[in-house]
Amino acid sequence: MTWSNPTRAHSSALTGRRVLLRPLVTSDFDAWREVRIRSRDWLLKWEPRPLPGQPDATEDRRIFAARCGARERERQLGSGYGFGIFVGPEQDRFVGEINLSSVQRGPYQNAYVGYWIDEAAAGNSYVPEAFVVLCRFAFEDLALHRLQASIIPRNGASHRVVEKLGLRDEGVAQRYLEINGTWEDHVRYAITSEEWDDRRDDYLRGWIQPLGGEAGGL
Ligand SMILES: CC(C)(COP(=O)(O)OP(=O)(O)OC[C@H]1O[C@@H](n2cnc3c(N)ncnc32)[C@H](O)[C@@H]1OP(=O)(O)O)[C@@H](O)C(=O)NCCC(=O)NCCS
Repeated sequence: MTWSNPTRAHSSALTGRRVLLRPLVTSDFDAWREVRIRSRDWLLKWEPRPLPGQPDATEDRRIFAARCGARERERQLGSGYGFGIFVGPEQDRFVGEINLSSVQRGPYQNAYVGYWIDEAAAGNSYVPEAFVVLCRFAFEDLALHRLQASIIPRNGASHRVVEKLGLRDEGVAQRYLEINGTWEDHVRYAITSEEWDDRRDDYLRGWIQPLGGEAGGL
């Protein structure tokens, strides 16, 4: 099975009220590259610094294709699920990514959520909506028990994402992740399947079900 076939990739699409999530494929390169280059300053300060010699996927379609292939292998192994976020009337305008990573089974049944969006598309609550779509996939299709998002205290925009969704603040983990070359403290936010079950109807009403074109929120 390969997601280099866009038709197959689309068959694994997840939809919200406005967003469509699907694995990125090689043919997304031009749109992905354009957004990543234009939003470089907006994004890089919140991301791990590339390792010396690490290939830059914005520079070469083949590197981007390899990245898509690696994500597809993770999907096949059940260790990670990466999605592009698409919006617009045809839900075909690429605006960002949201990922489930480090899926662990056994007694943990946990995964980590990471996300980013094009600066030009920020402020439309696309990421909170995508997060709810991903929660439904994680809890109802993958049967995971817990999702965690980790946020640097000064990243106000990202804190707003989890506040809008009512995720539980589990406190600060000190020097938790390397971001842009520095070991940064992170606030860990989590949601468990019990919390998803309790709030499922509100989440679906607030973010997924059609509202006649209105933007959603809780
Ligand atoms: C954090 C991020 C994913 C939020 O995505 P989003 O789809 O814009 O989320 P929202 O629309 O809910 O906006 C969240 C907050 O961002 C802020 N915001 C909105 N538009 C903004 C803009 N153009 N520039 C800066 N901040 C903005 C607002 O405070 C907003 O809260 P509000 O809706 O209460 O006003 C996005 O800002 C981003 O990609 N930032 C850079 C990368 C990053 O921080 N990734 C997350 C690491 S944990």
